Amino acid sequence: MGEKITVSLIKADVGGWPGHALVHPDLIQTAKKELEKEKGKLLIDFHVTNCGDDLELLMTHRKGVDCQEIHHLAWNTFEKATKVAKELKLYGAGQDLLAEAFSGNVRGMGPGVAELEFEERKAEPIIAFMMDKTDPGAFNLPMYKIFADPFNTIGLVIDPNAVSGFRFEIWDILESKRVFMDCPEELYKMLALIGAKSRYVIKRVYPKVGGKLPSDEAVATISTEKLYQIAGEYVGKDDPVALVRAQSGLPAVGEVLEPFAFPHLVAGWMRGSHNGPIMPVSQKNAVCTRFDGPPRVIALGFQIANGKLVGPVDLFDDPAYDLARRKAQRVADYMRRHGPFEPHRLPCEDMEYTTLPKVLRELEKRFQKLD
Ligand code: F6R
Ligand code: MG
Ligand code: MG
Repeated sequence: MGEKITVSLIKADVGGWPGHALVHPDLIQTAKKELEKEKGKLLIDFHVTNCGDDLELLMTHRKGVDCQEIHHLAWNTFEKATKVAKELKLYGAGQDLLAEAFSGNVRGMGPGVAELEFEERKAEPIIAFMMDKTDPGAFNLPMYKIFADPFNTIGLVIDPNAVSGFRFEIWDILESKRVFMDCPEELYKMLALIGAKSRYVIKRVYPKVGGKLPSDEAVATISTEKLYQIAGEYVGKDDPVALVRAQSGLPAVGEVLEPFAFPHLVAGWMRGSHNGPIMPVSQKNAVCTRFDGPPRVIALGFQIANGKLVGPVDLFDDPAYDLARRKAQRVADYMRRHGPFEPHRLPCEDMEYTTLPKVLRELEKRFQKLD
C-alpha cells in the first residue's frame, strides 16, 4: 500500500430516465450506499453524481491505478444500480455492463475509467470533467489548449515552471498503439494526429523531465474506452470523463476551464451519429433533451486533503459560461437544419458501428453495376 493518493473516476450508463436523458435519483442513492460501506476501508472518500444518463463514481484511495478491488467495487456498484434500473424499467438498464461477470479490471468491460496516482501536494486542486453524448476525442481540443496553447494558458509563457511545456501520451484507438510527444517541440506533428479525433485521442499528459513535478506522474487523464469496439455494435457513445490537476506549475483552474468557453464540435449527440457543439453546463443542467443532446460537459472542482474530496464546486454553474451556452444553442440550431446530411450526420466511416449499415445492407442487392 503506497502513500500516494489515487483518484479514480469510473462511470457507466446503467439505465436512462426517460430514454437517454438522465440518471434516476434511486440509482444515485444506491451507488452512494454501496460506496459508503467502503469509506474508511477501501476508500478514503467518494462523490457520486451523474452527467446526463451516466452514473459517475469519483473515489479516492491509496491502492494505485487499475486496482482490482477498486474496479470490482465499481462493477458491483453498477450491478446494484442496474438491479434498481431494471425494477424501474429504466431505458437500457445495464447497457454499459458488457461483460457477463467481473474479471479483474473494468477496462474493456463497458465502463469508462480515468485514474491518476500522485504524491498529494501542499494544496491539490483537481477538476473532474464528465461529458454526455460524445466520445473521448471530444477532449482532444480542450486538452491541447490547456497544456499546449499559450493563447489559452498564459502560464506556458509567464510561469517558469510551465514554460518548458508538457508531454502528451496519444493513443491510436483503432490499432491499439500509443506515442509520446513533447510540446511545444512537436506541436505541429501532434496536431497532425489529434486533429483526427475519432482515431487519435489524448490519453494522458505529463510534466516534462527536470520540472517541479515528477515526470512519471500524469497530471491529466481521459477515459478512452471505445464502447463500439468492445460491443461490436453501437450501444451508446462512450461519454468520456477526465481528471485534470491544476495550479503551482500546472495550468491554473481558470486555464483548465477556459477552452470550454468555445463550444467546439464533437461527435455523438442523437444515436451517436451527429456532430454538434459541446455545451458547458452546471451538473443539474446536464439533461440531454434536444435531439438527445446537445452534448454536455460538466466540471466539478475539488481540493484534496489527505485523500478527502473537499467539494464539489460546480464550476460551469457560472454566468461567465452563459455566452458559451448561447453560442452552443445557436450552433446546435444551425447544425440541426442539415437534418440527415453531413457534416451534421457523421461521415460514413464513423457510422460503421451505428445502426445505419443495417439499413444500407437492405439496399445493396438493388444496386446495378455502372459500365
Ligand atoms: C446517444 C444515445 C441515444 C440513442 C437514441 C435511440 O448516445 O444513446 O441518442 O441512440 O435515443 O435509442 P434506441 O435505438 O434505443 O431507441
Ligand atoms: Mg444512455
Ligand atoms: Mg450517456
